[in-house]
Amino acid sequence: MKVELIAAMSLNGKIAASSDQSSLEWTSKEDTKFFVEKTKECRVMIMGRKTFDTIGRALKDRLIVVMTCDPEKHALIEGVEYTCETPHQILKDLESRGYASVAIAGGAGVYSMFLKEKLVTDVFLSIEPILFGNGISLAESFEDVKLKLVESKQLGEQTVLLHYEVV
Ligand SMILES: NC(=O)c1ccc[n+]([C@@H]2O[C@H](COP(=O)([O-])OP(=O)(O)OC[C@H]3O[C@@H](n4cnc5c(N)ncnc54)[C@H](OP(=O)(O)O)[C@@H]3O)[C@@H](O)[C@H]2O)c1
Repeated sequence: MKVELIAAMSLNGKIAASSDQSSLEWTSKEDTKFFVEKTKECRVMIMGRKTFDTIGRALKDRLIVVMTCDPEKHALIEGVEYTCETPHQILKDLESRGYASVAIAGGAGVYSMFLKEKLVTDVFLSIEPILFGNGISLAESFEDVKLKLVESKQLGEQTVLLHYEVV
């Protein structure tokens, strides 16, 4: 299964200034367009509960799997599933339901877990022209991962998209 980590990042490796900040506050419209296209292509994305809180709704034509330690607590929303399963179990379940690829949509907690478990196959990074003085790093506390650059392209006047494969 393709497990595609997608993130918008500041020039100094941050994905947000704080954990309640929506990415829409600082990312480009070209990155949003890429996010929509990529997640529609995968048909499913996995994200942490804090990231889902910054979105707060289902997204058209895509399933959102939200990782939380307390799945029962959340109100049912069509197109959104809450789970406390492990990354391995979530992927196995999605595969059995016919999904061939999945977007790992953050935040840092979720990126870190999937990297730690060595489950990520591809990384897509949109680099935005901002330096956060404080904030949340992309991911941490995992063994080094070697990557191969597959493609780099300019998404818009100010945004570069990098696609890497895990070696
Ligand atoms: N720039 C980007 O591309 C990008 C992408 C995504 C997110 N973000 C930003 O990142 C920030 C949020 O990131 P974050 O790292 O603070 O939080 P997060 O990873 O989105 O969510 C953390 C939550 O995930 C759940 N969780 C974590 N480990 C779990 C496990 N092993 N099993 C079950 N549930 C687990 C817990 O939810 P419970 O507390 O409910 O148990 C935890 O509080 C937001 O500002 C968001 O906008 C940026």
